[in-house]
Amino acid sequence: MSEQAKVLALLSLINSATTDALALYTADDRDVPDLRSTVSHPLDTADDTVALKKAIRTLEGACQQLCATLAPPQHTMVGNFDWACIRVVVEHGIADILDKFPSGLYVDELAAKVGMIGSKLARVLRPLASKGCFIEVSEDVFANNRLSLHLRTSEGVAGISLVMTKQVAKGAHVLTENLAGSRYATSFDPGDAPCMQALDHKYKDTFELLRSDVRTLELSCLHFSLTIPGFPWQKYNSVVDLGSGVGSFSRPLAKRFSHMQITCHDLPEVIEEAKDIWSKDAPDAFTSGRVTLAPLNFFEQVPESGRDVYYLRYVLHDWHDPESIAILRNVREAMAPHSRLLIQDYVLRSSAPLDNQHGLDAGDIAPEPLLPNFGAGNARMYSQDLTMFFTHNARERTMIDFINLANQTGFLIVKVWDLAETCLLELEMALPK
Ligand SMILES: C[S@@+](CC[C@H](N)C(=O)[O-])C[C@H]1O[C@@H](n2cnc3c(N)ncnc32)[C@H](O)[C@@H]1O
Repeated sequence: MSEQAKVLALLSLINSATTDALALYTADDRDVPDLRSTVSHPLDTADDTVALKKAIRTLEGACQQLCATLAPPQHTMVGNFDWACIRVVVEHGIADILDKFPSGLYVDELAAKVGMIGSKLARVLRPLASKGCFIEVSEDVFANNRLSLHLRTSEGVAGISLVMTKQVAKGAHVLTENLAGSRYATSFDPGDAPCMQALDHKYKDTFELLRSDVRTLELSCLHFSLTIPGFPWQKYNSVVDLGSGVGSFSRPLAKRFSHMQITCHDLPEVIEEAKDIWSKDAPDAFTSGRVTLAPLNFFEQVPESGRDVYYLRYVLHDWHDPESIAILRNVREAMAPHSRLLIQDYVLRSSAPLDNQHGLDAGDIAPEPLLPNFGAGNARMYSQDLTMFFTHNARERTMIDFINLANQTGFLIVKVWDLAETCLLELEMALPK
């Protein structure tokens, strides 16, 4: 394909992905999303939008590839401080304040409410407004819009933004020193992760660091609440959520499927926090006995046995292979022949052409001339991999990595569900116990 043909093909992908996204947004008489709106679009928080995410993955990948092709090189590489501006907004509750002024607030008045100077705060808000988060309704008058609403301090997006901009960013700042430092370069110890280095080893590991800021941690969990659209949950009666955290997966599951018996296992201190949150958020499921919250160390103990589904979400990416193998062996010990193991994580892909010798694709393949991994359309996958590096000295895995883990622990991957960001790997026991 000539360079000109590639550019035109990217343009055509942008066209078709936009058409697909619009059709999904406007189905069932819904409106086209509007950046000037001050209410969320119904699909902004819907959890069954895999088709929409797939269209957006192509759209974002093609737009960025087109810009990188045609723009001056430095535009792609230099100067993005959005993360620093977002931290100011969330830590100072700027979107919460603007919520009370729907037609906008002069930046001097806004700044005075949080002990700042208007002319400086404007320089934080304007770059965000220029990208579609907040509206500058007239010069120096800012208002919330559909995007900035998600930065109100009670929102999950605000929580995860705070973890990323406050904690994870510390690790990002010392990445260069960590990669080449004599103590760190060859270490895979969680205590030598860049975040730990940046904080002079004040914390044992990132779990301890995050628990030091429980409110932010709880808030960030709100961000992850998909109950996996398309997966046939109705077929299953019992689920063990291992490394469940405070139940950001299990609570929506319990609310949606009232027949389901759910067991949540995590460390004792997390289970104590989880009890509080379950009793407020899903009191019926909690008090009826349908949900059991039981402390367990997944390296040393076997989870509740004989259940239909064992579910590990965002757990294995915290650990290297020896620890992951210990967890999987304990899960296998608990499983009955009919049990399924579900692993939800990002499955990393190379940006080079695929060489699928193992017969399992890590999700859909991008249409040419998009990079085979959808390029920037999958940016969150690589950002999450670096987050695991900064925080735990750990990593996301490729499909081959997962196949190797399965082979070493007596599992077979029987299906890969492409959820357009993460993948869900469905496994069964390879051999009878
Ligand atoms: C990244 S969080 C994922 C939480 C949850 N699965 C979710 O998707 O929201 C990893 C969880 O593993 C738990 N964890 C860490 N070490 C553990 C251990 N030894 N035994 C049990 N759980 C552990 C942490 O407390 C944390 O809740």
